[in-house]
Amino acid sequence: MKILTGPFEQIITMNGLPLNGPAGDDRLEIIQRGGMVIENNRIIDIGGFENLRKKHTAEIEEINGSYILLPGFIDAHTHLCYAGSRSRDYAERIAGSTYREILEKGGGIYDTVDHTRRASFRELSDLTEQRIMKHFENGITTMEIKSGYGLNTVEELKMLEVIRHLDKRTPPDLVATCLAAHVVPLEFSSSEAYLTHIIQDLLPLVREKDLSGRVDIFIEKDAFSPEESFLYLSKAKKMGFDVTVHVDQFTSGGSDIAARIKAVSADHLEVIDDSHIRMLIDQDVVQTVLPGASIGLGMPFAPARKILDAGGCLAIASDWNPGSAPMGDLLTEASILSASQKLNFAETMAGVTFRAARALSLTDRGRLDIHMKADFVAFASNDYREILYQQGQLKPAIIWKNGNKHIKHT
Ligand code: NIG
Ligand code: FE
Repeated sequence: MKILTGPFEQIITMNGLPLNGPAGDDRLEIIQRGGMVIENNRIIDIGGFENLRKKHTAEIEEINGSYILLPGFIDAHTHLCYAGSRSRDYAERIAGSTYREILEKGGGIYDTVDHTRRASFRELSDLTEQRIMKHFENGITTMEIKSGYGLNTVEELKMLEVIRHLDKRTPPDLVATCLAAHVVPLEFSSSEAYLTHIIQDLLPLVREKDLSGRVDIFIEKDAFSPEESFLYLSKAKKMGFDVTVHVDQFTSGGSDIAARIKAVSADHLEVIDDSHIRMLIDQDVVQTVLPGASIGLGMPFAPARKILDAGGCLAIASDWNPGSAPMGDLLTEASILSASQKLNFAETMAGVTFRAARALSLTDRGRLDIHMKADFVAFASNDYREILYQQGQLKPAIIWKNGNKHIKHT
């Protein structure tokens, strides 16, 4: 059955904007008084509402009021499956301790591992579902979720199974990533032994159960070295996994590996330099910046403006996690990054729509165009510029996932 939805004051399609490099607001395609025709979860036509009404025999889903329509947001990097809170870490950090000092003492990520392991499947699923629904209500219609707080075969599989369970139960699409190589668990004497364990015991099961097609690793002083990470990722790639990496958050050295391994994305990049930005561009690696981690840790943002000006494909993700990025509000974080790094609306929205889709190797979403998934968000406003101006306080009022309309209760 065909449905014509509209009219919308402005539809910002994101069509015609480049996959890489700077993009100007003067290049935004804006359909005034627009509509969309949806059939079988897909957009089959888009244009002026009155024209579409004449052209199609469709059920009309009439929209009353003034709305700006955008593609559903895509969050390409989260760790929102976890138990416990790290408010104590946060208090310690604002009193002067650093993230790495807390981790070295066996706190930080290890604390979340402890809580996540102790949570039952049901408990972890309930906590994760609440966060997914909060994110969905903020307009995120596709979200990546990493494991990485289990750190052994049983517990990593529990996390990935919770994600799969919730992919079926909740409206957004969930993309699972295996981040078993987050830090070395305390039970292992060496990182080498642990990485071997993941390759030999865990990843074959992840494949067999079809729980994830993506593998991530945290390349950092207190986690895994660049060289061992390269070997690990090479093996994961041979097993058929796409690879993505946490690099250049506190110390540099990881983005070389991201380029050498041709990762689909290199994420964090707070301390990346010009030559490494170039290396990633040359290998076509999406550069995903995580303003929520800078806000959570009180540290400088990744050089998003430089990445764009050099010609990079810049995605912006929330990194929602209990430690470095507890806020978990992608639009607020992207708006603050945009003000600080001088990213215009087109560039900021590209980072949370079609460029984020690329970071997840998804080609069927992120723009409002024929054949694309009917995932979109409507803001109650008559001017798209209000969205960044209100710095995340103007939330989407209506969200469509696969053409199904979801009106927020609040
Ligand atoms: O992306 N840096 C490593 N991993 C996460 C933080 C995880 C945590 O602190 O629990 C990040 O910032
Ligand atoms: Fe992360």
